[in-house]
Amino acid sequence: MTIDITPSGQACGATVRGVDLRALDGSTTAAIRSAWLDHKVLAFPDQDLTDDDLEAFTLRFGPFGDDPFFAPIDDHPHIAAIRRTADETSSLFAENWHADWSFQEYPPDGTCLYSKIVPPVGGDTLYTNQQAALDAMPADLRDRIEGLVAIHSARGGYAPDGTYGDDDAAGRSMQIRPSEDAYATQLHPLIRTHPETGAETLYSTIGYIIGIDGMDDDEARPLLGELYGWQIRDEFQYRHRWEPNMLVMWDNRCVLHRATGGYEGHERLLHRTTIGYNADVRAA
Ligand SMILES: [Fe+2]
Repeated sequence: MTIDITPSGQACGATVRGVDLRALDGSTTAAIRSAWLDHKVLAFPDQDLTDDDLEAFTLRFGPFGDDPFFAPIDDHPHIAAIRRTADETSSLFAENWHADWSFQEYPPDGTCLYSKIVPPVGGDTLYTNQQAALDAMPADLRDRIEGLVAIHSARGGYAPDGTYGDDDAAGRSMQIRPSEDAYATQLHPLIRTHPETGAETLYSTIGYIIGIDGMDDDEARPLLGELYGWQIRDEFQYRHRWEPNMLVMWDNRCVLHRATGGYEGHERLLHRTTIGYNADVRAA
């Protein structure tokens, strides 16, 4: 099967046609993986997937990730519903830039999102290419972050006093489960080497990153803020526009993403899985 790959023309991202994700063979899976590593975000329009199909597709690229703080949908423990009702007034979910679950010891390599109900306007997902951001970084800024190790935590979002904590439950249609577990911290270098491409990238950003190991907050916060300003510059971004029945997979190891609004009065529903830390690709 020959797949048709059309780059977005932006800083990352490509659309893939000519493939049925329900019927992948080994060579097509390998071609998709290669395109995924090249483009970092792949969109597959016009895919008719059941929840079982979504899980099977995910498992072609690694194990399932460990997804805390969400209740899964019924009968599919690895699928979360990203849902917003037409009249919902809670704050927009995932509007801050992030790499999924970067506060884990072994964060998910990737995320798959399959669109079921797409509003007629708004609801784009934004991505920013962190390999490109590091490549283009001024030497002065790079010198100041070289070798630094970031402190990650989910507390700002998922602790009982976080954005999606105990005071947030009323009116939110997503099944978020805040927990004391969110106060845990995890260290990751700010600059990491992608295990499959060998490219250096920035990893995660302020939000899940709450400090820098061994550095006073008075020094770390402005540096993380300056770094954030660089990470999200327009020239590193890709704006993804959704269509119904579209699967998007992205590489959390080298892109950040965020949700956007602008669809008040319209429902939106996507089903999500994570591609977990894949020891096999690291052993190769
Ligand atoms: Fe996310």
